[in-house]
Amino acid sequence: MREVLTANNLSYTYETGKKKVEALKGLSFAVNDGEIFGFIGPNGAGKTTTIKLLLGILISQKGELSVLGKSPTLPEARKSVGYMPEIANYYRYLTPVELLTMYGDIFGIEKKLLKARINELLRLVDLEKESDRIMGTFSKGMMQKVSFAQALVNDPDLLILDEPSSGLDPVARKNMREVIKSLRDKDKTVFFSSHELSEVELVSDRIGILNRGELLAVGPVEDLLGEKEEGQTLESYFLNMIEREI
Ligand SMILES: Nc1ncnc2c1ncn2[C@@H]1O[C@H](COP(=O)(O)OP(=O)(O)OP(=O)(O)O)[C@@H](O)[C@H]1O
Ligand SMILES: [Mg+2]
Repeated sequence: MREVLTANNLSYTYETGKKKVEALKGLSFAVNDGEIFGFIGPNGAGKTTTIKLLLGILISQKGELSVLGKSPTLPEARKSVGYMPEIANYYRYLTPVELLTMYGDIFGIEKKLLKARINELLRLVDLEKESDRIMGTFSKGMMQKVSFAQALVNDPDLLILDEPSSGLDPVARKNMREVIKSLRDKDKTVFFSSHELSEVELVSDRIGILNRGELLAVGPVEDLLGEKEEGQTLESYFLNMIEREI
């Protein structure tokens, strides 16, 4: 099994003027090839900061990080990575087809292949009817769907999603779950953050629980919940753990 993501003693401190916020404090974890890894934790725990470090958007002051065997600060490391940001803030005067074409061009995908892939992705996220409407007219959930399609445009080996199901209706959530699971069947790796613990439980091979910049637990959901406590859900486990920490 190949390690797709490794973080070793990763730290990150935001500095704005005199104020310092220690967002990550010595984080270590690894994600393997073909694994779906759910990253959960309260607001402000450091999930988005971790994701930005994985993408080379932020550069850590301490610790090591490897993404697909390379440092994420190198553009080559990002070629095979797909990223869905926390907030889908795309240029509102573009249509989904135009946006996806722009991203596909950035990855250098050949025109005919790109056109076919965009059609397939828009069908996958159920946006075929809206494919030529400008995104300024879209609802939040529709924007999430465009953003998910954008993350898949380069057929990535590693997919990094920051709260992907936020704002999606139950049908769209199920749909996204199925797409994510189908990626595992193709040996792709998915790293995603979420507050929807029932979703996380359904789709993840392993989860990591982050609190105040520190990992409290990592493992398969069934191992973490244990066999003894019948009826315990990931949500009750999570709430117990976080409340103990407060
Ligand atoms: N640009 C910034 N400048 C200063 N502090 C920041 C900045 N971005 C994040 N932080 C701080 O870093 C910590 C971690 O934030 P982060 O966005 O990583 O959390 P999160 O786990 O993604 O939270 P949420 O679930 O709300 O998305 C918080 O204390 C936050 O206030
Ligand atoms: Mg976040």
